[in-house]
Amino acid sequence: MFFRGTYFYNFRNLTSERREWNNGFNLVTGPNGAGKTNFLEGLNLISGWGPFERSAKISGLVRWGLESGTGGASLWGGLDGEGRYEIFASLSSRCQLKCDGKPSGATEMRRRVPVLSFLSGSMSLIKGGASHRRQMIDRVGALISTPYAKRLYDYRRALRQKTALLRGYRDARAVDGVLASLGSWLWLTREEIARMICSELIFFSELLPAPLEFFFERGGGGLEKDPAEDFKLSLAARRDRERASRAPLVGPQRDDVRFSCGGRDASAALSRGQSRRTAAALMLACARLVERCLGRKPVLIFDEMTSELDESGREAIVDALLATGCQVFAAATDALDYNGIAAYRINNGRFT
Ligand SMILES: Nc1ncnc2c1ncn2[C@@H]1O[C@H](COP(=O)(O)OP(=O)(O)O)[C@@H](O)[C@H]1O
Ligand SMILES: [Mg+2]
Repeated sequence: MFFRGTYFYNFRNLTSERREWNNGFNLVTGPNGAGKTNFLEGLNLISGWGPFERSAKISGLVRWGLESGTGGASLWGGLDGEGRYEIFASLSSRCQLKCDGKPSGATEMRRRVPVLSFLSGSMSLIKGGASHRRQMIDRVGALISTPYAKRLYDYRRALRQKTALLRGYRDARAVDGVLASLGSWLWLTREEIARMICSELIFFSELLPAPLEFFFERGGGGLEKDPAEDFKLSLAARRDRERASRAPLVGPQRDDVRFSCGGRDASAALSRGQSRRTAAALMLACARLVERCLGRKPVLIFDEMTSELDESGREAIVDALLATGCQVFAAATDALDYNGIAAYRINNGRFT
């Protein structure tokens, strides 16, 4: 699947103009504040993933200073490849999506036009906090498993209820049943997704300093193999502590995936550069897995792709990305001189 063209209208600081894209590697470069991330965010939005910052208000994405009543912002994308679609998002107070003229839900859009975005935090997949690793699994899960996004959403909603009850010193056991059923399904599914991502890593071994092993850690669990049983037992074992800390301590919100390299914890064993190459290998493994499950090549978005990488690291990542045959949109401050890359320069929101 690839974007053959886009037209973003009144979106953030970007000039409203139609652009055609290369079906391979597109590299957008420009100084800080030029609009690189804004452009990538536009692609993320029309493909059903929402703004890069989950809590961002949609109305804040419309170009500042527009008179009210001018119709907000809109995004258009023409896709080709394993299917031909025209997708559209209109942004005012909400984001409404259309595919080939018909209203489309976000889940439906994500599966039809698979896009995988990796922001600067993704480069911290190994050394950074657990939320980066959960996010990686969630992105893949939302693409390859139909009920994943809905169950995660329902789980989070129930979790907010439980948090509110605990904060108010009230009995939260009424919500625990729902949490246990959704949470244990998420544990099982995330474990399986992490295993599948890691099994694709063999195709990117040139990026890895040593073979990588993974361990999925159920948040606050691990007392039993069976996830439903584990959830119940762990809740019972931590009930007093949950009450004392007034926060839910068991469940997917505390999951982690730990990596080890040659028997040692990867976050300690790898240098910064090595951990970034390893992170890139994981992202490529995600892309391969999505392609294998959906039968379509995902579009890959990489913001700040080259930050903190040396020349050989950059070259290895660009080579591996080119070899996937996926359409890539990458942003970097400095231009890269590689064969096979279509380079675009952006300044003050305008492509030159
Ligand atoms: N709704 C908006 N309307 C106009 N400009 C915006 C809007 N939102 C952000 N910007 C501007 O976009 C610029 C940031 O663009 P960004 O894509 O993050 O830059 P970079 O090229 O460094 O990734 C900032 O200068 C910011 O002021
Ligand atoms: Mg940026």
